[in-house]
Amino acid sequence: MVTVRVPATSANLGSGFDSCGIALALHNTARMEEWDRIDISASDGTCIPTTEQNLIFRSARAVYELCGKKLCGMRIVQTNAIPMARGLGSSSACIAAGVIGANALLGEPLSRQEVLELAVQLEGHPDNAAPAILGGFVVSACQGRQVIAVKKEMGSELCWGAFIPDFPLLTKKARAVLPESVAHADAVFNVQRAALLAAAFCEKRYDLLETAMQDKLHQPYRMRLIAGADEVVQTARESGAAAVCISGAGPTILAAVMRENADAFFCAAQQRLAQSRAMRRFELRRLSADQQGAVVL
Ligand code: HSE
Repeated sequence: MVTVRVPATSANLGSGFDSCGIALALHNTARMEEWDRIDISASDGTCIPTTEQNLIFRSARAVYELCGKKLCGMRIVQTNAIPMARGLGSSSACIAAGVIGANALLGEPLSRQEVLELAVQLEGHPDNAAPAILGGFVVSACQGRQVIAVKKEMGSELCWGAFIPDFPLLTKKARAVLPESVAHADAVFNVQRAALLAAAFCEKRYDLLETAMQDKLHQPYRMRLIAGADEVVQTARESGAAAVCISGAGPTILAAVMRENADAFFCAAQQRLAQSRAMRRFELRRLSADQQGAVVL
């Protein structure tokens, strides 16, 4: 039996659409072992698929198929701290757990790079899967099936405020509202800021995050799918966030907060949430970076 622990992730960080992502210290675990049938449960009572449609199982089976091994069944016990369909990488966490767990059960036939590439292939884009596996701040690019991912640990000067609503938003729906093509000027706007984002993390220039996380490729189209998002973004800014973005495809809104301002930020933002009808559906959670990524415990 193996136990895999995988962090939550926040993809895009505004400008880095389908490219940048961070890992956050909020973890799912999966205990996995080969079994004579499919036996899947959640030890924390979360409602999860318990058939062969289960994402951890499907991802594990992909490893067995890739390695030419037969899989009769699997026993999986999940814990699910990462809220589902909230833009915090719950699907990627399941995929990473399935691939890493199966690889461990088979005696590690796949290298870390092969694990990453299979996880990205199963997910469809790299910006959640890569930080879920590697931890930290990760920039990734796909070249066909090859995934180039570069990780930088995040400084302890930063923490994160996640405004998590009580309603889900499926990534499929959030991608469906994006236009087929964008203006050249909008593409240039994002290239400049995504490059600045990578530089800001490398140089710990967190004062640049507000500019670096601006985006014209996806957030303007997605904000209207998230009831109360405009008020939450304004609240986060006025409470002293260094920068604010939609987490992944949404609906969570993520604020980068300097640790020295964190107590004041969380206190002010929490008060504003409680006072507003539009924002009452959002729960504010304080999260730190996960630097380690997915691990077999
Ligand atoms: N980059 C992806 C998106 C992340 O924004 O659609 C969600 O999986």
